[in-house]
Amino acid sequence: MTSAPVHAKGLEGVIADESAICNVEQTALIYRGYEIADLAAHASFEEVAFLLLIGHKPNASELKAFKDELIAERELPEMIKQNLKHAGELVNNKYAVPMDILRTAVSVLGHLDPDCQDNSAEANLRKAKRLLAKIPTVIGHMQNSIEGREFVAPRSDLSHSANLLYMMTGSEPSPEAEKVMDVSLVLYAEHDYNASTFTSRVIASTLGDMHGAVTGAVAALKGKLHGGANEAAMDMLSDIRNDIGPDNDAAKITGWMHKAFAEKRKLMGFGHRVYKNGDHRAPILHALGRKAAEARGEEFVKLFELGEAVQKIMADEKTIYPNVDFPCGMTYFTMGIPVPQYTPIFVASRITGWCAHIMEQHANNRIIRPRVAYIGPALRNWND
Ligand SMILES: CC(C)(COP(=O)(O)OP(=O)(O)OC[C@H]1O[C@@H](n2cnc3c(N)ncnc32)[C@H](O)[C@@H]1OP(=O)(O)O)[C@@H](O)C(=O)NCCC(=O)NCCS
Repeated sequence: MTSAPVHAKGLEGVIADESAICNVEQTALIYRGYEIADLAAHASFEEVAFLLLIGHKPNASELKAFKDELIAERELPEMIKQNLKHAGELVNNKYAVPMDILRTAVSVLGHLDPDCQDNSAEANLRKAKRLLAKIPTVIGHMQNSIEGREFVAPRSDLSHSANLLYMMTGSEPSPEAEKVMDVSLVLYAEHDYNASTFTSRVIASTLGDMHGAVTGAVAALKGKLHGGANEAAMDMLSDIRNDIGPDNDAAKITGWMHKAFAEKRKLMGFGHRVYKNGDHRAPILHALGRKAAEARGEEFVKLFELGEAVQKIMADEKTIYPNVDFPCGMTYFTMGIPVPQYTPIFVASRITGWCAHIMEQHANNRIIRPRVAYIGPALRNWND
């Protein structure tokens, strides 16, 4: 009797290829040689996007040209705008969630991109910039449609982060809100072979095109075990609040957590396949979000205090720590962003990592085609 070959469930620990883009270690997260805390403190999202897509830190003139190119690409083709007019109807009647609308928009953007079928390095970079520039406009217009408002056109005098918030609301964000959004985008931009990036590389490895690979990546990011965790984490905190009432009563919080443990529930925004001692991005975003909450008032501080109590119980009793999605949920809530847009905003950032990986795959390709250990029926005859 032969036993099935050894396999790695969930591909845990498997090194699938080499990459020069990002290094995820227990002790550090590094984008092209720069550590994440360094980038969060000193680099803008546009600088990080340039670093990831083009491969080096931009000088002043490179950065200006890059920003100008992005600004010039912010408008959407008319066909996409017409489609997005129906976003409110689809979302408000629960036929779709914003991640579905964004996935379809990315796919249709491919039909309208003159470089769609061209996988050359030059065409891929042009497409990556267009996607990076247009995704915030998709999110903004979609939110306008959900709220029954006219589309808010992109502005050419605002940063990527400020323009995203402006288009979603019609109001120019404060410099503080712009900064928090910008840092969250820096933190979300890249994370080596996570599920959505791996998806994009599998598609690219067949010589599929960038829009197809990104469409698949958006679908992968939607899941609660991956990018969807930022929405799920906030939903979980709202559930706890509903169950325990307005005060952060320690006994009630502990009771809620023990019930969740007894039911073997996965707590959203906690745990990570690689980071077993904590996610380096989480404390950076937590500190910024908490500061924003203190500026906004008691309700928001109490939300962070609830989150901190949950974190402490998870750490003390399970030695499981928050990932970046946990503080993200609380932070975006404090900023007044509607919960179903948290994961689309993640896309507005991770598009940089995905496109960098798709370009790296196309530049040095071998089709990704692993094997599986067969455990089905033994050989048998159809006529027996
Ligand atoms: C991120 C995640 C998918 C990683 O999955 P993974 O590497 O397969 O980790 P495992 O599921 O093997 O977890 C190892 C152990 O920790 C537990 N665990 C991991 N994350 C947990 C969580 N969020 N809540 C409760 N227990 C958790 C598992 O139940 C498992 O316990 P066991 O050994 O007693 O069965 C997982 O931690 C998770 O589902 N987290 C919640 C979703 C989330 O926040 N995703 C965003 C990731 S950035």
